[in-house]
Amino acid sequence: MRILQVSAELFPLLKTGGLADVAGALPAALAAAGAEPRLLVPGFPAIRESLTKECAVAPVALPWSEDRAALLRGRLPGFDVPVYVLDAPGLFDRPGNPYGDAVGVAYPDNHRRFALLGLAAARLAEGVDASWRPEVVHAHDWHAGLACAHIAASRSRRRNDARTVFTIHNLAYQGLFPADHFCDLGLPPPHYAVEGLEFYGQVSFMKAGLHFADAITTVSPSYAREIQTPEQGCGLDGLLRHRAQDLHGILNGVDYAVWSPAHDRSIAQAYSLDRPEGKADCKAALQRECGLDVRADAPLFGVVSRLTEQKGLPLVLEALNDLIDAGGQLVVLGSGDARLEAAFADAAARHPGQVARRTGMDEGLAHRIYAGSDVVLVPSRFEPCGLTQLYGLSYGALPLVHRVGGLGDTVVDTTLEDLAAGTATGFVFNAFTADAYRRALRRAFALWSRPAYWARVRDAAMRQHFGWGAAAQRYMAVYEGLLQR
Ligand code: ADP
Ligand code: GLC
Repeated sequence: MRILQVSAELFPLLKTGGLADVAGALPAALAAAGAEPRLLVPGFPAIRESLTKECAVAPVALPWSEDRAALLRGRLPGFDVPVYVLDAPGLFDRPGNPYGDAVGVAYPDNHRRFALLGLAAARLAEGVDASWRPEVVHAHDWHAGLACAHIAASRSRRRNDARTVFTIHNLAYQGLFPADHFCDLGLPPPHYAVEGLEFYGQVSFMKAGLHFADAITTVSPSYAREIQTPEQGCGLDGLLRHRAQDLHGILNGVDYAVWSPAHDRSIAQAYSLDRPEGKADCKAALQRECGLDVRADAPLFGVVSRLTEQKGLPLVLEALNDLIDAGGQLVVLGSGDARLEAAFADAAARHPGQVARRTGMDEGLAHRIYAGSDVVLVPSRFEPCGLTQLYGLSYGALPLVHRVGGLGDTVVDTTLEDLAAGTATGFVFNAFTADAYRRALRRAFALWSRPAYWARVRDAAMRQHFGWGAAAQRYMAVYEGLLQR
């Protein structure tokens, strides 16, 4: 089965969040499940510079000018499958992240940049590469949403018969643009309609995916239910309820080749379930690296996160004194919202030795935080899947999470009965309030004061397995279902 994965990010080359981890790991898992996957990514500098053995496949006409972009095929390090790269130097060859400039302001022509990605996917579905034509095009997040619209338009002209799958990684980011930008997208005018990609007078790339895809998936079973409610539907819950038969919640996996303390080269000392001693070395090394007091007896709480409204970090700040007064330590790695950055900087200044913060994307430090922490805090307001709690489980850093989305699907609270049954893996709070968060924090300290029980929960956490194999099987079932239709 020939599957084209379309994504704007790709670990390890280009990453702003979990989308990159997924896009980087899914192809190998699909190949292991018997599919023939390939990738289509924009030619951002980090990707373009890594492409080898490249050849030109076809030009892609820009709908808004006489110019053309080039669709290349080649190889990227770490990927066993051929990769298509959309080379459009004026559009993708820019500093900053995939979506905005160095200070995070969205590029004004993002609608053109990502419409072109969708167009390139449609050209591949039409067979511009005579040696490989996808049967299924699997588009990730709003950046790839127009692939579904372009393929539908081309299919109605009988130019392709590919099926499309659209995965929602985060419904809160929708790719909304003014209506007058529609003429740049290269789509037939009737597509700008309620039964299309119009959304309250704007163009929505997310809605293009949700409306035109043959199947929709999202990254956890709970989030698949939550987005069908007005509270979490971001205005699209009606459409999602309408498409409920085609909507599947498929939990993300962990790439244990990257995220396992047994063979992680970026941590101070390897360790595993059978030989957990090295975790203490990792903790001391992290404390030294971040300027925290080197104390084995202080429970160390780690945060690795985009600093955005979604991630619930105001709860951590509100209850910071509880954590400090009880003798805990906190290390925060992340950038984003200026007020949150300032608040964590202030906390670090007020509590030297107990609170540390680092900014920027630092993959190595992220690994050292999972390895060195006793708890990872993920109190997100909403969370489609969440990978950091899964990495915490793998590294024996017990996740403390809000029961929402994928967090509730993957962490088992340390209640007395789950402790007795050996099924507890972390701390889960229900209401999104500082009080509920505080109570979970107190449960963590209560467990910490009973080391034998702590070790038991940590073992259960490290025994969890969220490999990509299970997710790949479920995606295969979705693809097969579409091809049989
Ligand atoms: P989201 O995609 O919403 O940001 P996820 O939990 O799915 O959340 O994935 C976050 C990913 O980004 C994880 O791989 C996490 O380790 C990584 N990450 C987040 N912030 C940083 C940072 N400042 N430095 C390095 N990695 C980070
Ligand atoms: C999004 C979500 C996150 C999810 C990731 C990968 O960024 O916010 O919950 O884990 O995508 O699917």
